[in-house]
Amino acid sequence: MTTLADTFSSTFREEHRLVRDGLLELLDAFENRDQAKARRVLHEIAVLTGPHFRYEEEALYPGLVRFFGESYVEKLYADHDGAIRGAAELVEIAGKESWSARDVERGQALVRGILPHVSDCDGLSILVERLPDSFIQNIFRVREQSLAAGLDLITWAKGVRQRAAFAETHQARAALVK
Ligand SMILES: [Fe+2]
Ligand SMILES: [Fe+2]
Repeated sequence: MTTLADTFSSTFREEHRLVRDGLLELLDAFENRDQAKARRVLHEIAVLTGPHFRYEEEALYPGLVRFFGESYVEKLYADHDGAIRGAAELVEIAGKESWSARDVERGQALVRGILPHVSDCDGLSILVERLPDSFIQNIFRVREQSLAAGLDLITWAKGVRQRAAFAETHQARAALVK
């Protein structure tokens, strides 16, 4: 019998596969100095990861506090901050007129900095198996909403995300609160 947790794990795994493949393609693009490919793949990754990060943060991560405690879950959010900043820097590098050897090296280092989050994140499924079905149903609900909203990673991070990954969005939010 397929449980809801099984369906979650396979959905989650498939999304991570796509992100993994995108990041590996991006590494290739840097390796081959192919800027057009880097731009295209980065865009695809941003479209995939926007809704993915969003439902993880809004519906999945809060459910993991009961297992991991607050501080490890805080680390998961902080890992996302780092991945978002890395993605923004990759967009900047990809958009340059031409790449220097330093740009290529930096781009590869950024991709390799993000990649472990994909495999770490996939492992969270093992704990999702211990969440109540009602909770998993809610993760799917928020996932559907995030996909329907369709915000790419940077648009979501700068405009909608509650937590600020960038200093300037942090300041802008602090000004709104005043
Ligand atoms: Fe994640
Ligand atoms: Fe993930």
